[in-house]
Amino acid sequence: MPHPSPEARTLDGFRLLPGFLGRGDQEALRDEIFARMKQAPLYIPRMPKSGAPMRVRMTNFGSLGWVTDKERGYRYQETHPETGRPWPAIPDLVLQIWNDVGGYPDAPEACLVNYYEGDARMGLHVDADEEAWDAPVVSISLGDTAVFRIGGLLRSDPTRSVRLASGDVCVLGGSSRRAFHGVDRILPGTSRLLAKGGRINLTLRRVRA
Ligand code: SIN
Ligand code: MN
Repeated sequence: MPHPSPEARTLDGFRLLPGFLGRGDQEALRDEIFARMKQAPLYIPRMPKSGAPMRVRMTNFGSLGWVTDKERGYRYQETHPETGRPWPAIPDLVLQIWNDVGGYPDAPEACLVNYYEGDARMGLHVDADEEAWDAPVVSISLGDTAVFRIGGLLRSDPTRSVRLASGDVCVLGGSSRRAFHGVDRILPGTSRLLAKGGRINLTLRRVRA
């Protein structure tokens, strides 16, 4: 048996499905997202303890949404932190993608919406606020291409850079579910899907075991 490279080991269970969504589906999904954002507007999340603003604006769809603020930190909750209203439903097309690629019997409760504009990026982190560790995280990219980084189980493990373009879907399953990952930067002008440019990322999460 050939020895797996450190890089291959870090990517066990990570699947990139380039161009999973065609242009028509991307446009339909974009329109569904903007319609839902009228009910659940993007807000600026704040880091636990320091209260420092994140560079990415966020909202959620589904029965649970991931939020963070200075006082109470990272968590899932049923309502939007600024409006107090329940999150809008996850679009059917998004649930269909989960069914097609997730390989998990239960539906996701949460669809986190990340909106990257300008020099927004996201530092290396692990998605660790879910009880259902056996469920994958499924990510859908729309708009400008992201330089995504994925490593291993330790922050110090080797990382690999992967470009995520509009319509790409990726799955963090298996051991990659616990892998450190982040977004180094967005490449402006790489897509015409969003009128004002930037990137929308949706991540689908099964929260409860
Ligand atoms: C995330 O890790 O929550 C977002 C990843 C991405 O924007 O591709
Ligand atoms: Mn993440």
